Order: sequence, then structure tokens, then C-alpha cells
Amino acid sequence: MAELRNVLVVGAGTMGSQIALQTALGGAHEVYLVDASEEQLERAQDQNRKLVARAVEKGRCSAAAGESALEAISLGTDLDAAARSADLMIEAVYEDFAVKKEIFERADAAAPAPAILASNSSSIVISRLAAVTGRPDRCCNLHFFHPVTVMPLCEVVQGPQTSDETIATAMEFVRGIGRVPVHIRKEIHGFVVNRILVEAIEEALRLYEGGYAGFEDIDLAVRKGLNWPMGPFQLLDFSGIDVFLGVLDDRHRQGEGPEPSRVLRDKADRGELGRKTGKGFYDYSPAGKEEG
Ligand SMILES: NC(=O)c1ccc[n+]([C@@H]2O[C@H](COP(=O)([O-])OP(=O)(O)OC[C@H]3O[C@@H](n4cnc5c(N)ncnc54)[C@H](O)[C@@H]3O)[C@@H](O)[C@H]2O)c1
Repeated sequence: MAELRNVLVVGAGTMGSQIALQTALGGAHEVYLVDASEEQLERAQDQNRKLVARAVEKGRCSAAAGESALEAISLGTDLDAAARSADLMIEAVYEDFAVKKEIFERADAAAPAPAILASNSSSIVISRLAAVTGRPDRCCNLHFFHPVTVMPLCEVVQGPQTSDETIATAMEFVRGIGRVPVHIRKEIHGFVVNRILVEAIEEALRLYEGGYAGFEDIDLAVRKGLNWPMGPFQLLDFSGIDVFLGVLDDRHRQGEGPEPSRVLRDKADRGELGRKTGKGFYDYSPAGKEEG
């Protein structure tokens, strides 16, 4: 099986910065973190320094291991130069096909022939990106969850042309950096976890809109009866009502789900987007009382 020594992470935002750190903490990789913005790279490095300091404080990693992980991450803005020595690229730029397509084209042109090109996209299936490369057998989705250093799962998604060897190598890589890989054998929009989550949230909204129970009671029932750490309405507020509405709209457009709930659309129109705006289903303002 190919050894993935040099890992290139493209996009140093919420996901890419932590994918780079988690990879470096694995202790077996040189990591190159690339972003179009120098400021974003500095922010990412600052955040990773804080995450490592906290992990050391809590005894989850030794100070020496933390320091060498940070040292193993090189920062830069030159994708083509970084791709030349990459064994694996993990793309984590904006969720925009045109932007991702350009990254795949450039990485394919610059990276050594055996290198694997992966995308962390939540909704763009790998066959669309593999199609712009000359190596569709060496492309796959590696879908990590936020926050990467806390959430163990990584969905490893096999496109129609992804080889079994690529999947085996990718699964081994994910295990090596201390995450849990799950092999998704056939690509499908939303993969596995988000498909199940969306169904559950849509049902919670139907029950609420139908007047069967209040949203606080639905949350309480799901927390106590299914052992979820948060109820569906708390999760909507946590992730952002606009973000979820985008997911449901997209699903509806693809003919895979119903018209999104009126309640969600009204909240989004009023700017009540959840925690980030201080109000969603619950009130997070200092004056308001957070329930649940
Ligand atoms: N945020 C989440 O909870 C989450 C979870 C799983 C998967 N994802 C997926 O991960 C990907 C990244 O999401 P995010 O939340 O980290 O986004 P983000 O907006 O936080 O970060 C994206 C980064 O990409 C950089 N970028 C944009 N164009 C670039 C280019 N051409 N070259 C280099 N860098 C470029 C931006 O400067 C930015 O720093 C998306 O595909 C998203 O679907 C996100």
C-alpha cells in the first residue's frame, strides 16, 4: 500500500486548519497547509496553537508531541509548488464547485502520478471532481466532521471510478491519524450521516408544525429517549438555521426531499438564525433565557 508521507491540505478555514492539525498529530506526516489568504493561514496557525495548548493542559497529548505537530505544518499560498511533492491532497475550500474544480485541475497537473486527490466537501460527490482530472481512480471524498479534533468520524466515499486500492490507502491514512473511517461504497448526495440527520430533523419539524408537541418537548424527548446530546431544534440553532435551510432547499431542488418547512423559512427571513444571531428557536441573548 502506498505510503502517504506528504499531505497537502488546501483551504485553512474551519475544517482545513483542523484536518491539518489532526494529520500532524498522527506523527507520521509532513503537512502543507495552503490557503489563498495569508491572514487566514495566520489565524489557522493561532487557532491550532490554542487547540494544542488546551490538549496538553488536559493531558490528551504531551507538550513535545504537540510542539512537533505544529512544527510539521508548513504554511503557504502556492498550491502548485506544494502539490509537486504531495502524496495526498485533501481539499477543504469553499463549498463551491467552480472553486473546487480549479483546485483539482491544478493539483492534478502538479502532483506526482500516484498521489491521491480527496475532497472534504459535504455535498459535492467525488465523481464530479474526479472528472476534471486524469486520475479518477485516485480520487475520493474524505468527509470529516466539525470539530475535526473532537469528532472521530470520517466518511471515505468511493466514486464510480475510485479504485479499491485508493480506498484501502485512504482508510489506512484516516486510522493512522486517529480518526474512524467508514467506507461508503457508492456515492450518494449527503453521504450517510447527513442523510439520516436531515430525515430526523424534517420529522421533528413536521411534528412541531402539526402541533403534536412543542419544540422544547421534542428536544427533551429526543435527548432522553434517543440519548442525543442535543435535540433537533438545539442542533438547528447550533448549526445555523440558514445553513440547514440551504441543505433542505438543495435536497428539494434535486427531487430528494419535500419543500422546506415554513417555520424555518420564516425564521431565516426574520434573521433568527440560531446561536450566531442570539435567537433561533431558543433565545441566547443575555436577556433571554436559554432553555433545554
Ligand atoms: N464547516 C463544517 O461544519 C463542515 C463539515 C464537514 C465538511 N465541510 C466542508 O468542508 C469544506 C470547507 O468548509 P469550511 O467550513 O472549512 O469553510 P471555510 O469558509 O471556513 O474555509 C474555506 C477556506 O478556503 C479558502 N479558499 C477559498 N478559495 C481558495 C483557493 N482557490 N485556494 C486556496 N484556498 C481557498 C478560504 O480562504 C477559506 O480559508 C466545504 O466543502 C464544506 O462543505 C464543512
